[in-house]
Amino acid sequence: MSPAQLQCIEPDCNARFETSSRLYTCARCGGLLDVVYDLESILAPQLVDEWDRRFGSFQAIDRSGVWRFRELLPEAAPDEIVSMAEGNTPILDAPSCARYAGMNRLAFKHLGFNPTGSFKDLGMTTGVTQARRLGATRVACASTGNTSASMAAYAARAGMKAFVFIPSGQIALGKLAQALDYGATVLQLDGDFDAAMRLVREVTSDSDLYLLNSVNPFRLEGQKTIAFELLQQRRWRTPDRIVAPGGNLGNSSAIAKGLKELLEAGAIPRMPRLTIVQAEGANPLYRMWTEQADRLTPLEHASTLATAIKIGAPVSWRKAQRGLEWSGGDVEQVGESEIADAKAMIGRDGIGCEPASAVTLAGIKKMVEAGRIDKDEDVVAILTGHALKDPDYTINYHRGELAFTDSAGTTRLLPAAFASPMIRVAPDRDAILAALE
Ligand code: F0G
Repeated sequence: MSPAQLQCIEPDCNARFETSSRLYTCARCGGLLDVVYDLESILAPQLVDEWDRRFGSFQAIDRSGVWRFRELLPEAAPDEIVSMAEGNTPILDAPSCARYAGMNRLAFKHLGFNPTGSFKDLGMTTGVTQARRLGATRVACASTGNTSASMAAYAARAGMKAFVFIPSGQIALGKLAQALDYGATVLQLDGDFDAAMRLVREVTSDSDLYLLNSVNPFRLEGQKTIAFELLQQRRWRTPDRIVAPGGNLGNSSAIAKGLKELLEAGAIPRMPRLTIVQAEGANPLYRMWTEQADRLTPLEHASTLATAIKIGAPVSWRKAQRGLEWSGGDVEQVGESEIADAKAMIGRDGIGCEPASAVTLAGIKKMVEAGRIDKDEDVVAILTGHALKDPDYTINYHRGELAFTDSAGTTRLLPAAFASPMIRVAPDRDAILAALE
């Protein structure tokens, strides 16, 4: 592990701070912070070999798909690390989805296989470890659900008290259930995620509560290992493109940072194109990108049934913009029916995911149809959360009862092109045989 520093990402500031300072943003200009390393002293040709060797190791620290890559993570002593063997998530071929999208092949890296069922665990192992290093005993986050479930679990492992700020009635029940089970105090706030985010930042700025949203750069250091593990599983063969959902834009930013470090380490010869997909009703990055604007204009009211990414004012937009520039990336948006059908199609490959994850397949299909992705491209899409996170959505879809209310207040029923049959049958042999016909 490496002596790291914090550095402001704003090019005209670039102020540096010690990692022992409890900072979430730049103390000089308020910009977002990166954890930076003296790459030259770390990067040796043997580094990748060492990471590959750890793949077969029985040591707990090596079994973590995050800490396996510890040379490029902030320093932590083994007894400070709060880990649950996170990572180690599979890359799965998805032939039905490939056909659906018009591709020759398509693969998903499924981060729903993590301990609490989402990619947030990768960031929480590093975030909660940093909280412990700083002596924090109480941690907090705002969340659309997954961050709160993950933070609650890792805080419990570390013996810390967790406080989660959630938009009342707007998170999937599986996620709320997890946060409660892991012993968090759940603050249900009137308003949306963006309001909860503002409030948690205010409250944590002048209290002992340690903020664990992805504005905290230590979170993103863990999440960048998505790129490391993905490349390692592919024996360091670079895909043409990595497609990820965009909400608060921490995760896509983290993947971009991971890829850039691999490029600088000489582990990969080029950057895959990062492609970020948003829901149409929660699309501030898409708007900024298509309008070629310098700055992101927040949406006043985000609306999508993919509640994980129902975000109008993404905190990490500047880092996402930078990642798109580094990688020659692209942004797409998709509608509610496209998301719902894509999710069902991911289910048909036996994989399954939560609604926010399905924007990836919907986006790929749309971009293939528009000629923006070639059918021969080598694409890996990131599935961010497990199918069981939001069972209400899935059941409503298959019943043909999935209703969406847009930001203008108009409600419509979404058609369900891939609904599976659910038949009520009398408990009787003949009736069952008739139904099976
Ligand atoms: N997919 C899922 C399942 C998520 O939970 C999130 C974000 C995203 C995608 C988007 O990632 O925000 O880094 O761009 N969930 C956060 C939460 C906001 O509170 O759980 P992002």
